[in-house]
Amino acid sequence: MKKRKITVPDILKMKRDGVKIPVLTAYGASIAALLDRAGVPILLVGDSVGMVEAGHETTLEVTVEDIIYHTRAVRRVSSEALVVADMPFMSYQVSVEDALKNAGRLVKEGMASAVKVEGGQRTAAVIRAITDIDIPVMGHIGLTPQSVHRMGGYRVQGRSGAEAEILTEDALAVEESGAFAVVLEGIPMKLARTITERLSIPTIGIGAGPHTDGQVLVVNDMLGMASPTGTPKFVRRYADLETVILTAVERYTRDVIQGKFPTEEESYK
Ligand code: KIV
Repeated sequence: MKKRKITVPDILKMKRDGVKIPVLTAYGASIAALLDRAGVPILLVGDSVGMVEAGHETTLEVTVEDIIYHTRAVRRVSSEALVVADMPFMSYQVSVEDALKNAGRLVKEGMASAVKVEGGQRTAAVIRAITDIDIPVMGHIGLTPQSVHRMGGYRVQGRSGAEAEILTEDALAVEESGAFAVVLEGIPMKLARTITERLSIPTIGIGAGPHTDGQVLVVNDMLGMASPTGTPKFVRRYADLETVILTAVERYTRDVIQGKFPTEEESYK
């Protein structure tokens, strides 16, 4: 049976129907193909690729070209999942015109179906402009990694009453600007619940507790691959690929050194 691509209206319907929305990051074809087969409805080509796959300390170094390259790889093998491409730092902050051009590149060259931008009220004009040209936008508020230097590290946001009020206004601004969903990252669960109840678009939580409409994790974290920055409290490890890979590679290395690989059976006659 031919698979049907998941669309933005499908995601909005999931919130209306009270169906939770699982989201995972994906950066390359081999893992993305498995995530798509497993039925993950949204694959996010996050700018976390810079930290997870390129070994940078922050996401700030990631370029539009990087995201296009990884989005194409993910998109090629995704027959069902909706592929969302992250807009990297400085691809939408300078001007609305820049933002439109770069969002267009992620759709045209990266073959993404939607883009994601960080920021609430300050990004509202950009979200409005991109959605006005019919590119669906996912917002992202709270602990926004592109703001690492302002935040002084990757810290939980919205703990004080004043901060919580600003974040609620941010979420409303993202919705009013036309976004189809919003990531709530690193905020207290009570605040995430309040925001989720006030919005008609889905909230996708990461480190925001159980009361959001969906959840997103960095795929390498949930698969138990060693993370250069350590594993945050909100991650659940569903596998231990670190041990699986280390064991396999140590066995391979030993076999090659001892002349046990390859055998004649593993060779051409
Ligand atoms: O870049 C990313 O992977 C993200 C998610 C963690 C939300 O923004």
